[in-house]
Amino acid sequence: MNKKCMAANWKMFKTRQEAEETTRELMSLTAAKLPSDREVLLIPPFTAIASVAATIGSKTGFGVGAQNFYPAENGAYTGEISPDMLLDLGCSWALVGHSERRHLFHEDNEFLAQKVRFGLERGLNIILCIGETLNERKNGQLATILNKQLTSALSDIGYTDIASRLVVAYEPVWAIGTGEVARTEDIREAHDYVRSELKKIFSSAADSIRILYGGSVKPDNISEIITLDNVDGVLVGGASLQAESFSRIVLG
Ligand code: PGA
Repeated sequence: MNKKCMAANWKMFKTRQEAEETTRELMSLTAAKLPSDREVLLIPPFTAIASVAATIGSKTGFGVGAQNFYPAENGAYTGEISPDMLLDLGCSWALVGHSERRHLFHEDNEFLAQKVRFGLERGLNIILCIGETLNERKNGQLATILNKQLTSALSDIGYTDIASRLVVAYEPVWAIGTGEVARTEDIREAHDYVRSELKKIFSSAADSIRILYGGSVKPDNISEIITLDNVDGVLVGGASLQAESFSRIVLG
């Protein structure tokens, strides 16, 4: 069975030195006590990936991911980073479809599907982020939106080892960075729905695909969230920036 994934999305925060310091402090607070059924994934900005990977070294239970990549091997794509460049830095995971990429940078389902496919093909493991806006929720479109985001990105994948290569993060857009965490019944409903949709796509392999919750996860709400059925980890933004606060989430 896959371990619970405790992921830190540092967004556009931290220089190399700050990222190294936070990583070192986090490891000293958690490494000795990390339960055997949990792992930590740090997702710093591109510029700090190599330093975080070097700080982690070969320590088990800790890994590095990227926040983004462009779905091409190489080429004239000024400003972009390829999956091979990330793998070369010691980075094995990447986010695709974070709500900030969808909304601020207008990445649509079709482009995100290309990224998922290409990233997996090149050897990256993918964390596909999905979630509804407040308006979509109010209009009763939760299932329609999640269904579209999942099926468009995953329908043609067909990898046999999918459960070790793919993670889905359910992050309601209205709960990201707002301090407004979804109610446990909302999380349960959405995660149950995601699991049932994954089963339609991947049949029994879907049972071991991890589904993370993200959106205002904090040290004081982690224990309630992490124990819910179908919650296989968390994706944390704001509360992951300080080692002390993220360590309480990792161990919480
Ligand atoms: P938050 O961000 O924890 O600050 O709400 C979560 C995310 O963006 O992944």
